[in-house]
Amino acid sequence: MFITLEGGDGTGKSTQIALLQEWFESHGREVVRTFEPGGSEFGKEIREIVLHSRGHIEPRSEALLYAADRAHNIATNVRPALERGAVVIQDRYIDSSVAYQGAGRVLDPIEIRDLSMWATEGLVPDLTVVLDLDPEVSRERLLAEKKKFDRLESQELDFHVRVRESYLAMAAAEPDRFLVIDATLDRLEIRDRIINRIGLAE
Ligand code: TYD
Repeated sequence: MFITLEGGDGTGKSTQIALLQEWFESHGREVVRTFEPGGSEFGKEIREIVLHSRGHIEPRSEALLYAADRAHNIATNVRPALERGAVVIQDRYIDSSVAYQGAGRVLDPIEIRDLSMWATEGLVPDLTVVLDLDPEVSRERLLAEKKKFDRLESQELDFHVRVRESYLAMAAAEPDRFLVIDATLDRLEIRDRIINRIGLAE
């Protein structure tokens, strides 16, 4: 089972991933947690460039860097884990590229999706959870954490509004794969909705 979590920055993806891991492990399943960008050794170097490079990066270069990271992570971490029957829970995947590079940077979303489909030899998640939050609220959450913003987080509010709209549009177009959850709900309520959707509730 391949589950991906999506949403703006500061929507609580890591918290949900930890709760899901705990739930699956307590039910006897092997869980592999990964993330993009940077889930593999090689990917760490790409993550550094794409998130912290000081100079300007062209939108198409940025899209290729995320796709390169993804190709390696899927081939070396995700596919082997899925093949041995593990549950893979991943922080961000192709939909992040469609939302951030497509809607955010205003590149063609279909081309961005096709690029990553090529990179991953067409690996589609069984379930994609979108933690939905007003970008102004996520900004406040990030500021409260006093985190230094990366290249994407420091984009203007409009960029993050487009990212959110893109997620919601993808979810509406593919309701069988997506589950949209209000990120302001209680963390355990969110986890239970995800478990219910997977159809594994006790
Ligand atoms: P993430 O690791 O989730 O951020 P953090 O560790 O700070 O919570 O993602 C880093 C940033 O990369 C995030 O702002 C979204 C962006 N991103 C893209 O623009 N395209 C992509 O394909 C991916 C995977 C992430």
